[in-house]
Amino acid sequence: MYKISLITGDGIGPELSESAVSVLNAIHDKLDLKFDVAKLSAGDKALAETGKALPDDTVDAIKNSDVCLKAPVGESAADVIVVLRRMLDLYANIRPSKSYPHMPALRDDIDMVIVRENTEDLYIGKEFSLGDSAVALRIISEAASKRIAKYAFESATQRNNMKKVTCVHKSNVMRVTDGLFAKACTEVSLNYPDIAFEEMYVDACAMNLIRQPQKFDVVVTTNLFGDILSDESSQVVGGLGMAPAANIGDDFALFEPVHGAAFDIAGKNIANPSSFLLSIKMMHDWLGNKHNDSKCVDVGKKLESTIFDLVKSGIKTKDIGGDKSTAEFTKHITDNL
Ligand code: NAI
Repeated sequence: MYKISLITGDGIGPELSESAVSVLNAIHDKLDLKFDVAKLSAGDKALAETGKALPDDTVDAIKNSDVCLKAPVGESAADVIVVLRRMLDLYANIRPSKSYPHMPALRDDIDMVIVRENTEDLYIGKEFSLGDSAVALRIISEAASKRIAKYAFESATQRNNMKKVTCVHKSNVMRVTDGLFAKACTEVSLNYPDIAFEEMYVDACAMNLIRQPQKFDVVVTTNLFGDILSDESSQVVGGLGMAPAANIGDDFALFEPVHGAAFDIAGKNIANPSSFLLSIKMMHDWLGNKHNDSKCVDVGKKLESTIFDLVKSGIKTKDIGGDKSTAEFTKHITDNL
C-alpha cells in the first residue's frame, strides 16, 4: 500500500481531487492496488483560513508520504508549488504532449516531452525594488543545468521516438545565464553520441511548436521558458485539460496537472479531470519503477488506455469537444477500468 498526500487545491482543484479519489478507489476495488490517501490543504483557501498558503502540518504529511498529488492552487501558487519544488529538490518537471485520436490537436503525430529545470531561474523568487526600478535575480548554475540535461538525455534513451534532445535557451541575449545553460547541455550531450542534439532559441521554439511540433522529441529548458512552452505544447495537442506533469527528485515526486485553478469554470462540474488523472498515471510509473512494482506500472497503463478509449469513442468533456460533466466522465472511467 502506498501513502499518497493529496493537496486538494483551489478553484477546480476540489472537483479534480474528488474525481481522483473516485478513480483511486475504483483502482483498489477493481484492480486490487491500494492507496492510503490523506487530503491536505494548501493554497488560497489555506492562506485565508490559517495565514499560511503552505501550512506546516501539510509539509509534514507530504514528507511522511510515499508520493504527493497536487490539484491546482490559485494566486498563492508561488508560495505552494514553487516552494515545494525547491524544498523537496524536485528538480525535473516533466511535461509530455502527445496527439491522441479525436482530439482538437494540430496534428496526429506529435509525441514530445518538455523537461524543465525546476529549481532555479527567475522562479527562485528573489525580487526587490531599487530606486525607481524593480529587479529580479536570475540564477542558473552549472550543477543544476548539467543535472537537468542528464535527465533529458536519459529520458531520450528510454523513448521510442527519434531520440533527439533540443536545448531551448536565449543565449544570444542572456549571454551569461543562458550561455552557461547551453554550454552545460552541450557538454552533457557529448556523453550521449546516439542521441541527436540541437539548440534552439526560445522564440524560434515557440514558433516551431506551431509550425512543426512533430519534429520535437525531448525539449530541455530553463524554468520560466519551460513553464510557458509547456502551456503551448499542451494546446498543440488539444488543451490544458489533457496535460499532466511530474515534478521528480532523486527520492520523492509530486504529480499535478500543468494547468492552474481555472477559476472561470470552478464549481460548474465541467472541468476535464484527465490532466490530473494522467498525472496519476505518471505517478504509477514512478512508484512502480522506484519499488520494482510492475503491477503498479500496469495499472497506470490501464488508467491511461481507459481515458483514451473513452475519448476515442466520443465520451469527453466540453473543453475537447464533448458534452460530459466532470462527474459523468469520471463515472465512465471508474465503470470501464
Ligand atoms: P489556468 O491554467 O487555470 O486556466 C487557463 C484556461 O484553461 C482557462 O480558460 C481554464 O478554464 C482552462 N482550463 C484549465 N484547466 C482546465 C481543465 N482541467 N478543464 C477544462 N479547462 C481547463 O490559468 P490561469 O487562468 O492563468 O490561472 C488561474 C489560477 O491558477 C491563478 O490564480 C494562477 O496563479 C493559478 N495557477 C496555479 C498553478 C499551479 O497550481 N501549479 C499553475 C498555473 C496557474
